[in-house]
Amino acid sequence: MDFEIKQFLPADAAQWSVDAVLVLVPDTASWEGGGELGALIKAVTERGDLEQGAGKFLFCYRPDGFKVSRLVLARVGDGSALQVRKAVAAGLAQLKAPGLKKLGILLSLLDKDSEAVRAAMMAVADATYSYVTTKPTAQSRVLRQVTLGVKAVAASREAFLIGRAQVVGVELAKEWANRPANHATPSHLADVARKLGHKSRIKTEVLGPKAVTALGMGAFLAVARGSAEPLRFIVMRYQGGAKGSAPVVLVGKGITFDTGGISIKPAAEMDEMKFDMGGAASVLGTFAALAELQPQINVVGIIPSCENMPDGLAVKPGDVVTSMSGQTIEVLNTDAEGRLILCDALTYAARFKPRCVIDIATLTGACVVALGAVRTGMFSSHNDLADALQAAGEEAQDLCWRLPLDDEYADGLKSGFADMGNVAGRAGGAITAAKFLQKFVSDTPWGHLDIAGTAWKSGAAKGATGRPVSLLLQYLINESKIAQPGRVTKSLRNVVVRAE
Ligand code: BES
Ligand code: MN
Ligand code: ZN
Repeated sequence: MDFEIKQFLPADAAQWSVDAVLVLVPDTASWEGGGELGALIKAVTERGDLEQGAGKFLFCYRPDGFKVSRLVLARVGDGSALQVRKAVAAGLAQLKAPGLKKLGILLSLLDKDSEAVRAAMMAVADATYSYVTTKPTAQSRVLRQVTLGVKAVAASREAFLIGRAQVVGVELAKEWANRPANHATPSHLADVARKLGHKSRIKTEVLGPKAVTALGMGAFLAVARGSAEPLRFIVMRYQGGAKGSAPVVLVGKGITFDTGGISIKPAAEMDEMKFDMGGAASVLGTFAALAELQPQINVVGIIPSCENMPDGLAVKPGDVVTSMSGQTIEVLNTDAEGRLILCDALTYAARFKPRCVIDIATLTGACVVALGAVRTGMFSSHNDLADALQAAGEEAQDLCWRLPLDDEYADGLKSGFADMGNVAGRAGGAITAAKFLQKFVSDTPWGHLDIAGTAWKSGAAKGATGRPVSLLLQYLINESKIAQPGRVTKSLRNVVVRAE
């Protein structure tokens, strides 16, 4: 999708010559001096054809005095980002006309139109994405170009550039998470990471079984044992900040297929375990977005990736393995494999002397039970980090919710045969999983995002969501602003946004 921003005041709307125009109308919109558009809004409001309140629409065909033949008026209530997103999604659904190649979205009736830019872009991207890797015929993207009409281009430029990077990142994460396991092996993930490594300021390093064995990652190796596909340990570095400045480390769970191993899962819906690399996909997507936006911050992305398969060589319930940290683990359930690959990656992360470590994982079914598909489960040992992640989620409309980490939750992990077991009881399963991970982080601020409920949708519209790329990108942008007040990226100033 080709996005651009242009100055388009409400009074100029009638001159817009695109295939369709979607006008976002806040309840407070005034029509005084608003030209043809003002007259139209006044008329439809007075006659009750466009009531106030979010979610109300009116489709106008060849409206008087307008160049465009298809015009949709969409109420956005108070004009919040959430309402903008909903209105654009619903408006696009109304504009399914054939031959709709160029769409204009008029934001300039909104008080804070720059805040609406990103929400509108995300809604367009969500509505027009289609998975193509193994179904290229699904690509029915007729819509080619979307122009966002704003009051002043300069005021919206930053939001536009962030939005564009966010769309790139989310789409990459979706496409890779959607790929079936035979088209998204650990080696395939390493290839994407290597490709991203050719972009500006990114470097990628990939370790295989030999190097991982030498590092002593016994927990990761135990999970990978049952699979014929070789494991990959991917390390990406984005150097946008000063040389010595401590990086944020992102660790993504990259189980490309989770059968459960010897503790095998039931057959129903097992296909969805191809999405068990959603954490890894979100790290790859975030790096694609960083490459696009070039913010001034250092970020390391770590992806431990393998399949979890049952086999003659597979790890067995009761086996005890030694993690890279030296702590021993009794593998009571081979289906609790995510924490086993993540714990070694968390130990490895310490070598970057990070300012914080955030892991992202489709970790527990229990988190789906707790929070459903609306909010990602968020855990943190540090209140500041927890607050920052929560705020980034609200800002980017990619929500999370903090869950507790009281030490008593770790009681069930005690083992008579090792330093810990890899599972506790059924109760509080998302939290006990987080407590397991916490045993592998030192004093470094650590955050854990359990995206089991949010990384993909089940049912008829089955597919990856690209979450939480938006949250992560927002968090990193906010961090870069703290590090370099007032300067998100070097490039923002110089970017040419199309004709104003
Ligand atoms: N990948 C799953 C978690 C999962 C399950 C995500 C369902 C989304 C939907 C994870 O590896 C797993 O199997 N977790 C187990 C842990 C249990 C054995 C303690 C679970 O949640 O059942
Ligand atoms: Mn599992
Ligand atoms: Zn899993």
